Amino acid sequence: MINISVKDLDGQVHEIEAREGESLMETLRQHEWGVAAICGGLCSCGTCHVYIDEAWLDKLQQADSDEQDLLDEFDSLQANSRLSCQLPLLPVHDGLSLSIAPEE
Ligand code: FES
Repeated sequence: MINISVKDLDGQVHEIEAREGESLMETLRQHEWGVAAICGGLCSCGTCHVYIDEAWLDKLQQADSDEQDLLDEFDSLQANSRLSCQLPLLPVHDGLSLSIAPEE
């Protein structure tokens, strides 16, 4: 299992476990405080937007052009914005820390 620390929109921090190989979105949408992920991971809705803690950004694969194009549409875009459906979880991500971004 991969341990993840997630700050929800109320500022509450949750320590959760994720399965290797699942996307970060698949784990987050299992929680009431998580993400809506309306498109189910097709990189078309943006409702899985998260802010990755800076220390972890380099350990994730780069956003492809489809992901970046969608992120660029958000007023809530930050330098550490990612779509959680585009982030498969690997053992190297154990300890990952992030925040849920506001829905637009
Ligand atoms: S779940 Fe829709 S863009 Fe990620």
